Amino acid sequence: MTDTTSPGGTTADGGPDRTGAPDAPASRLSARGLTLAYESRTVVDGLDLDVPDGRVTVVVGPNACGKSTLLRALGRLLRPRRGAVLLDGRELDRVPTRAVARSLGLLPQAPVAPEAITVGNLVARGRQPHQRWWQQWSEADERAVTDAMDSTGVTGLADRAVDELSGGQRQRVWIAMALAQETELLLLDEPTTYLDIAHQVEVLDLVRRLNRERGRTVVMVLHDLNQAARYADHLVAMREGRIVAQGPPGRAVTADLVREVFGLEAVVVPDPVTGGPLVVPGAPASASAAAPATVPVNIRKATP
Ligand SMILES: Nc1ncnc2c1ncn2[C@@H]1O[C@H](COP(=O)(O)OP(=O)(O)OP(=O)(O)O)[C@@H](O)[C@H]1O
Ligand SMILES: [Mg+2]
Repeated sequence: MTDTTSPGGTTADGGPDRTGAPDAPASRLSARGLTLAYESRTVVDGLDLDVPDGRVTVVVGPNACGKSTLLRALGRLLRPRRGAVLLDGRELDRVPTRAVARSLGLLPQAPVAPEAITVGNLVARGRQPHQRWWQQWSEADERAVTDAMDSTGVTGLADRAVDELSGGQRQRVWIAMALAQETELLLLDEPTTYLDIAHQVEVLDLVRRLNRERGRTVVMVLHDLNQAARYADHLVAMREGRIVAQGPPGRAVTADLVREVFGLEAVVVPDPVTGGPLVVPGAPASASAAAPATVPVNIRKATP
């Protein structure tokens, strides 16, 4: 079994922390004994999670393992069947809706825009939780929307209809709307879907900047394990509705984990850019093949 730790926490001997050590980061958002179901089908079963504050948590796992279901419950779009999601120690169901919306922003996996809405108007909807009947639109709202659109590169699309955009443009508009909400906690379900590789990196860099410069806590689902390893401070690997491993990517991402979670043979080598783990699918060929000393042997031996 891959080690399972509370966020960032290790014991003195570097082993997994199962005790909630005092140096573990605080957690505004957590799940306790969380069981989620659709009618009679249980999808997430008795899950415990502490989302580390001020960090980027990335959830990975095979299709249909319950990642989106978990994220929806963390964002209060789905009621727990058993157990609870806690926001600042209070059951999420008991926190007033406006307070939840000011703390938690959620970008679902397949959001649906109101028909014929423009980009500018959709992004502006992110400000609804901040508005009051006596003050519909403030300078702060305007600034937040402008900022969100600039940082996602959609300012030039402001007057276009959302349903006329390409998949990648639309995805960036949704991210802008989530950013405009200016919540401390941001839940993003596959924010890089539909994006070309340059825009994927741009969005992930933006998420990291929001985290590093503005202290936002992020939970995002990603399918690309290597992007997950690169951008996560805390990696959570799920299978069949349970967390099978979590921790810093450098410790959590191993060939055993990839096999256990995805049923895939792979070698894990140092990422030449970051030094972190890089997953290369394929079983290593015979260990006796010669390879130049300067090239990591297991890269050379990976079969596609
Ligand atoms: N609204 C729903 N009603 C009934 N079953 C659902 C619903 N949404 C999801 N499920 C089922 O719950 C399981 C988990 O789905 P979920 O969307 O959480 O998976 P996921 O890990 O996000 O997968 P993917 O990587 O494909 O997005 C799947 O078997 C799915 O069919
Ligand atoms: Mg999903």
